[in-house]
This record gives sequence, structure tokens and C-alpha cells, in this order.
Amino acid sequence: MRPFLFVEPATRSELTCIGEIPVAGRIAGHTLTLQKLADMKLGVIGAGPVGLVTAGAFSSLGHQVLCVEKDPVRLKQLTNGSIPLYEPGLQELVQQGVDKGSLNFTNDMGEVLRFANVVFVCVGTPEGEEGAADLSQVESVAVDVARNLPGYRLLIEKSTVPIGTHRHIARTISRHVGRDAEFDVACIPEFLREGNAVHDFFNPDRIIIGVGSDRSRALIEDLYSSFDCEKVWTDPGTAELVKHASNAFLALKISYSNLLADMSEATGANLGALLDGVGGDSRIGRSFLNPGVGYGGSCLPKDVRAFVHFSTQAGVDSSMLAEAQKINERRPVQIVDKVRDALWLLNDKPVTVWGLSFKPETDDVRNAPSLDVVRQLLEAGAKVTCHDPVAISRFREAFDEHPDLRYEADMYEAAQDSHALILLTEWSQYKDADLAKVRSSMTIPLIIDGRRVFDPEMVDGLGFEYEAFGSGKPPKRHGA
Ligand code: UGA
Repeated sequence: MRPFLFVEPATRSELTCIGEIPVAGRIAGHTLTLQKLADMKLGVIGAGPVGLVTAGAFSSLGHQVLCVEKDPVRLKQLTNGSIPLYEPGLQELVQQGVDKGSLNFTNDMGEVLRFANVVFVCVGTPEGEEGAADLSQVESVAVDVARNLPGYRLLIEKSTVPIGTHRHIARTISRHVGRDAEFDVACIPEFLREGNAVHDFFNPDRIIIGVGSDRSRALIEDLYSSFDCEKVWTDPGTAELVKHASNAFLALKISYSNLLADMSEATGANLGALLDGVGGDSRIGRSFLNPGVGYGGSCLPKDVRAFVHFSTQAGVDSSMLAEAQKINERRPVQIVDKVRDALWLLNDKPVTVWGLSFKPETDDVRNAPSLDVVRQLLEAGAKVTCHDPVAISRFREAFDEHPDLRYEADMYEAAQDSHALILLTEWSQYKDADLAKVRSSMTIPLIIDGRRVFDPEMVDGLGFEYEAFGSGKPPKRHGA
């Protein structure tokens, strides 16, 4: 049953209403939520990974969701309940919502604003000039919202944006609609990891909520009432910064682990013990301390560059992040050096790449280390055969055809007659591969393990030569 509170006429002026429905009030200086708004009507602008997870997840929590997708081909696909990307659990979530009728798609922003009280902004913020975030999609959403605003609406930024963006959105809307426009802009950044996004949505470590009014706070309290994790309430600008600061820290941590791998290689220190020793300190933590071919994807590389850009503009020295970037950019070069060290000349030599996506459980190849590694191998004259469980077609879209580059749907076929097997993504099928079978089909049984997934003693026992970053037994991977 919905909680219900009678309000004396004298206090009615302190009530916040959505349409005719009072949702919150201030009594004796305290904000109270008066009416539980089950089954809210939500809008989602942008049907990328974050938008689709947000739309699918809230529709599964009992809300009505209308999501905007401008591209006609993708819109048709979504309307049929099928999604244009690989993300475990998301297909089922979206299909369920579409089948129940609680999740719908449209290309009409006006329809979304008439329908929804709360609208999530989930458009892309790709890298622009000099590393700055390109906010043109966010700006055009603000203009579209202004043109279609039918009454009070709460806009919630989910896109990763530089601090202060909420103010630009608000100013743009006010400029078009006038000072009396009724809306709020809040920021609730997402910390979803690709490949784990659905799980992460329902199991957040914390929720950062940046709000500037009691009215938006009341709506968000209601909308997120079923999440019982810590909620950090702050202003929208700080919430915007938390997202960038978190991604930048993760990038720093990964680059630090890569520095430790180099240190272990240079000194003979056992890398597994080194990482467990350092990460075992609860102040440091073992998660995201896994060295390898570097961080890729659509977030960490771009967000670090954007952070460097806007901190420089703000007069803050962020050169420590630039150093982390440099370490990261060297990783693909370092792995190709390992191939060269082992095979000497690469010209005309067949080599195999296992793993093209920037991480397991996704078909995303944006900024994937594989792009750089394959390019360098081809430049060195190698004949490259690539395998990935799901990312081959996206890789082909992103990479030019080359006479010495071919793709193989079967991972064992890909390694046939090869002189080196280079592992770039730690998909579970590679970890569980029948390496004896691989060994018997390779011309030179050499593994270059870019993610340190194999046990050197085990592969040595099978007759492989084995190269990996760092020395000693491989550490267990934690939290990546
Ligand atoms: C990242 C953040 O982890 C999310 O919290 C955030 O929501 C998301 O960006 C975003 O901004 O949308 P994601 O890009 O999906 O998530 O992937 P991560 O799991 O962070 O991995 C990024 C890259 O770092 C991958 O290439 C991965 O292989 C690499 N990595 C990760 C390492 O090399 N070592 C590690 O220990 C961890």
C-alpha cells in the first residue's frame, strides 16, 4: 500500500507536485516524501549500452519506460526487442520489457517528454578536439528538450560529462523556454562495466546523486528506493566530477600495475607475489591491479584525456594522468617487442591473435589494444590470423582489410601452423582451452600471454615456449 499523508492547507504551499500529485513537502525544515510513486513514467534518451541497461532495468523494476533512438535501423531492431550490441543479460532484459509493454522505443523526443516525468540523458560524449569531451549530442538534447518541454520534468545526466555540464544544459533550456521553465537537471553517474553492465546496475557499490532541488531529490529518493546500497547525495557538479575522477583513478591503478610488471621483469621479482603483496593492503586493494596489454574501451582512455583537458583548463596540473596514459600507450608496443624477441624477424611468419575485444564478454573493440597490436604485426610483415568469440565483425568494421590478415571462427583452426599464439583478451574459452591440442597443431609452440592467464609451469610441461609480462607464476586476476 502506498504511504499516505494528510497535509494541512497551511502547508500546501510547501508541497512539490508532479502534475496534480503531491510528491514531497517540507515540514519543520525536513523534506518528506509524501506519495510513493510506484510505476513512474521514465524517458531514456540514447539507446547505447548505458541507455539500454537503464531502460531495461527500470522497466523490469515496474516502471513504464520510453526510450529514444534516432537511427531508423536500430529503432526497428529495438522495437522488436532485439539489441544491437553484445552484453550478457541485456537482450533478455530488453525483450522482457518489450513483451510486457513496459519498455517502448521511439524516435520522437516530444513523445518522450510528454510521456515521462523523469528523463535520463544517456547520449554519447565521444572524444573531441585535443582530448576534450565532444558534448554536441548533450547540447542537442538540451535544445530538443527545450522545444518540447510540456511542464516540469527532471532530467538526469547519465552520460559521462565534464564538471559544469548540468549548468550548460539548464542555461540552454532556460534560454529557449524562458526563465519560468519548470525543470531540474540532476546527475547520477553510472559505473557500469561493459560485460557486467546488467549485474552492475542492480548491484552498485554506491549511488552518487547530484541534485539541486528538493523536488528532484524527492523524485530520485522514490525512484531509487529499492536500492539499499550507500547513497552519496551531493550537488550535480560534484557528481559529474566523481565519474571522471573514478575512471581516471582506475586507469592510474592499471598503469601502476603495468609499471610493477615492468619492474618485476627488470629485477626478477615475482609479479604474482608483488601484486598480491601490494594489493593485499586494504588501503590499496587487489582489484584493478592486473597488468597486461593495457586499458582500452570507450571509457577509460577517453575519460582520462578529457580529465587532463578540463583540469588543465581549470589550472590544475594533472600530469600524473598523462604519465599513466603514456604507460598505457606503450603496452601494445611492448607485447609486439616480445613477439619479435621470440621469433626474431616477423616477415611472412604466421602468427595468431586470440581476443580482439577490449575485454571479455563484450564485442566492443573501441580503443582495444588488439587494433594496435594487429597493425604493428602487419607492418612488421607477419601473416596474422585473428579469433574472437564475438568481436570479429566489429573488429572488421574498425580495421582495414589487409592481404595478410584473416579471421577464423574456430580458435583451434586459428592457431593451426602458427609460429606464435598471442593472447590479448582473457575470454574464459581461452583460459579453458585444450592447450595440448593447440600445441600439436602449431609449427612453433610459442605463447605470448598478454593477460597472464596461463600457468607458466603448466604450459612449459606441455612443451610450449612461454612469454608474459613480469616474471614468476601468474597472479590470480581480481576484479577486472
Ligand atoms: C569502465 C569503468 O570500470 C566503469 O566503472 C565505468 O562505468 C565505465 O568505464 C564507463 O565509464 O562507462 P569498462 O570500460 O566497461 O568500465 O571496462 P573496465 O572493466 O574498466 O576495463 C577497462 C580496460 O582496462 C579493459 O581493457 C581491461 O582489460 C583493462 N583492465 C582492467 C586491465 O588491464 N587491468 C585491470 O586490472 C582491469
